[in-house]
Amino acid sequence: GGDTLEFRTEAHASPVSAADRDVLLVDPGFGKVFTDHMAVVRFSREKGWHDAQITARAPIPMDPATAVLHYAQEIFEGMKAYRLADGGAALFRADANARRFAQSAERMAMPPVPEALFLDSVRKLVAIDRDWIPHGEGGALYLRPFMFASEVFLGVRPSNEYLFIVIASPVGAYFKGGAKAISLGVSRHYTRAAPGGTGAAKCGGNYASSLIAQAEAVRQGCDQVVFLDAAEHRWVEELGGMNTFFVFDDGSISTPPLEGTILPGITRESIIKLAHDEGLTVREERYSIDQWRADATSGRLTEAFACGTAAVVTSIGVVQDEGQSFTIGSGGPGQLTEKLRARLVDIQRGLAPDPHNWVERL
Ligand code: COI
Repeated sequence: GGDTLEFRTEAHASPVSAADRDVLLVDPGFGKVFTDHMAVVRFSREKGWHDAQITARAPIPMDPATAVLHYAQEIFEGMKAYRLADGGAALFRADANARRFAQSAERMAMPPVPEALFLDSVRKLVAIDRDWIPHGEGGALYLRPFMFASEVFLGVRPSNEYLFIVIASPVGAYFKGGAKAISLGVSRHYTRAAPGGTGAAKCGGNYASSLIAQAEAVRQGCDQVVFLDAAEHRWVEELGGMNTFFVFDDGSISTPPLEGTILPGITRESIIKLAHDEGLTVREERYSIDQWRADATSGRLTEAFACGTAAVVTSIGVVQDEGQSFTIGSGGPGQLTEKLRARLVDIQRGLAPDPHNWVERL
């Protein structure tokens, strides 16, 4: 297959009435409501990428020996289509998701989806399910492109066949607390990614291995787990499903560097650019859990926040570590955090100029 393919489109009437859909869109939660269609493209070693279609969202029948079910050769993306202030629709930095998807594929010994084909699949799905993009301020259509090993084979080697699929889910805020700051629990026992491992790839396995630590944090009353590095159990890496930033009393900000164990977040990179636009100093440098506690206690650290496509930008109020907890600033939403969040969200919704050309109107 070439870089782009002809899509066969089988539009189908929604089983959900327009009135029922509008009710679902008021408060959809996260990842529970799905649109009517999906994009599907197949890959085989002989044919390359082929059989591209937009079709009714439906179960994928699978042989029990399908490779992904055994060795987890799977990757995914998270991105959003936004409702613009004027009622139009837009994607945000979709090209960056296409690039990262290709990088994840390479790490997992999978064939990269050509970027043009990735973007085409996403655009065509959003076009046909456009009425599912929420209108409310915190809402968006979360897009989940993913690819998995579909060959029926139990040998341990890269699959010869893959399915690339895009599904869409109208979402509200990821955290139920709204504008409230979130709390974190430090995982002292479990780590997320080791040097040379898959930490920088967006593969399902990374999330599978994070679940027990995330569950432990939730049991302690926290919203998210925070992982330390695997080698020294000392450096802050990332949360269960988002990157982190630190804000200091001199107005500078820092975030852990991309050294192969951290997911290269597109929101992370956008925040770095927006902070530069604001004239702030941004450091990508290691930050230890001990320094974090010391700086929060002394007041040198004024804010901390989590960021991701799902989470957007959310202040971190409290961190629990080894039975003790420390509070950052007031424990509530931080001022600079809220400013950066507003800058990002305003660009995504077409309410502010888009100096980096991040927004693609559909
Ligand atoms: C995201 O899309 O932001 C993710 O990383 C996936 C998950 C936390 C929902």
